[in-house]
Amino acid sequence: MSDKHDASSVPTTGHVWDDDLGDYINQPPKWWMLGLTVSAIWCVVYWLYYPAFPISNAGYFTKGLGGWTAIGEMEADKSVVDEVRGKWESKLKDLTPAAILADEDLAKYSLASGKVLFGDNCAACHGTNGVGTHDKQGLFAPILTDDDWLYGGSIDAIHETIQGGRQGMMMAHADMLSEAEIDTLANAVAAGKPTSTPLFAEKGCTACHGEDGKGMQAMGSANLTDSVWRFDSSVEGIKYTIKNGVNAGTPETRVAVMPAFQGGKLSDAEIKKLAVYVYKFGGGQAN
Ligand code: HEC
Ligand code: HEC
Repeated sequence: MSDKHDASSVPTTGHVWDDDLGDYINQPPKWWMLGLTVSAIWCVVYWLYYPAFPISNAGYFTKGLGGWTAIGEMEADKSVVDEVRGKWESKLKDLTPAAILADEDLAKYSLASGKVLFGDNCAACHGTNGVGTHDKQGLFAPILTDDDWLYGGSIDAIHETIQGGRQGMMMAHADMLSEAEIDTLANAVAAGKPTSTPLFAEKGCTACHGEDGKGMQAMGSANLTDSVWRFDSSVEGIKYTIKNGVNAGTPETRVAVMPAFQGGKLSDAEIKKLAVYVYKFGGGQAN
């Protein structure tokens, strides 16, 4: 090696390895030395300016010349956020959900917090983004993203649902109808034509589901003609619903309880934000 590379101008330590390997003294490039010096100075300045050295195990440390603390920085950030939010929050307090929805900026603000509130309070039952959740009886809590509403999809109806909760009630019919009548009704309902049997009116189903079987939003009775199903939609499943009812107070009954949020976990402003958020899922309807 040494005879292919002219290194005569480079100083050596004078030490020679294994007869012909010289120990050269090569200086690193200038730019590299400069970088090293600047970063060393930077370290010292940084150490002095910010809290750094632990002095003992008891939590003492150099406080830094700049007086910076993580808590101080967080509090400064928080007061900025509070000031910005305060303006929106006081507007929300005075406006109806419909007015909030009509105000582009307020609606946007509500959507952002509504998303978080929904995740914390509603998604466990209604699924992430309102896609619904299932259990062995069928849909555990309704899908909120479609146009099918038990209680109405206007902003006011949604707001009322979240405030006061909802609990549709259908009594058990096991003792009121013969097995043959239940069979006839279940088959008619399964086919999406509940009114095709006179039993539907004769046995009082129309009182809640309407003359046309399309349901009444005042009672949250399902539309039985739209092939959107809440519970098991097989003939057997429908027989079960007719026999045992919904929220009928027996262990066998189907269960459908939407809890009330007013006066509990959520403030009025939070409920309004959620109403806007749910309305904006896409299934909202005009008043
Ligand atoms: C414990 C489960 C549960 C929680 C938590 C819950 N819901 Fe519900 N929700 C239900 C059930 C069940 C129904 C259907 C009630 C019925 O069938 O009578 C419902 C119905 C609704 C409806 C009416 C749907 C329609 O078709 O008319 C809306 C809107 C709604 N929930 C929104 C919310 C929002 C917003 C939250 C969070 C603040 C929430 N729910 C939290 C279970 C829940
Ligand atoms: C007292 C009012 C009431 C009466 C009477 C009533 N229902 Fe219902 N029914 C309801 C309500 C409310 C629901 C919706 C429950 C829910 O989803 O919260 C319902 C749900 C149903 C469902 C389930 C629909 C689905 O999507 O899974 C079927 C099926 C049904 N009813 C059939 C009948 C038949 C048949 C009769 C007559 C024998 C009848 N109902 C009588 C109130 C009633």
